[in-house]
Amino acid sequence: MSQLTTGLGIDIGGSGIKGAPVDLTTGEFLKERMKVLTPDRSDPEAVAEIVHGIAEHFPEAAGMPLGVTFPGVVQGGVVRTAANLDKSWIDTDARSLFAEATGRPVRVLNDADAAAVAETRYGAAKDVPGVVLMTTLGTGIGTALVVDGRLVPNTEFGHLEIDGHDAETRASSGAKEREALSYREWATERLQRYYRVVEDLLWPDLIVVGGGVSRKAEKFLPLLDIRTPVVAASLLNTAGIVGAALAAAESETG
Ligand code: BGC
Repeated sequence: MSQLTTGLGIDIGGSGIKGAPVDLTTGEFLKERMKVLTPDRSDPEAVAEIVHGIAEHFPEAAGMPLGVTFPGVVQGGVVRTAANLDKSWIDTDARSLFAEATGRPVRVLNDADAAAVAETRYGAAKDVPGVVLMTTLGTGIGTALVVDGRLVPNTEFGHLEIDGHDAETRASSGAKEREALSYREWATERLQRYYRVVEDLLWPDLIVVGGGVSRKAEKFLPLLDIRTPVVAASLLNTAGIVGAALAAAESETG
């Protein structure tokens, strides 16, 4: 098995689409990342054009494996859900779409899954045995389950129904912003309820909290009264890009 040491990762989110070439031996960016705002009409054509533009922006990455994350369920390269992007994505073959747009093979995977792949290799979940639950708090809530270092793809625990609501509409950092909640209100009233339900259902050994807001982890993680040890992601908002690049490299060598 040959070892690929670089990859290009692109992370599609509800607010931004970001990419960078990644050094897979360290999990660090080789170049400053490029970010484009997600267009209001976030349909497959518009997003594919941006993915193409980001790939072109890094000519040195032309021969590198390309991984792209998507904020929804992705089975065999086909998008199955799109809670926070245009609904026309549902049943789109994203792998073929991005391969045509960029002229190269592409690996497409769920955004939280990509983040967990990166945290497992380089970050907060490295060498952690047992069951690790990664949650990414952003526009929605992404989840990824890693068991003894192996990912169980496409878990969607952000959409658990809790107290009659789709959990992410109450506990994501998007909800915090929308409702102008303080860190304390958000942590003690929303996140704690969410994590207590999740820990009672899954009994993880560790919860890793990612997403942009994890940069401010000291403002809310210490307020959580839950049973499971909980830590901030160490790659912060680079995890999606890094995990996408790593997953792409692994599917080329695996
Ligand atoms: C989607 C997940 C995604 C998460 C974070 C949720 O609404 O259903 O697939 O991982 O948002 O983007």
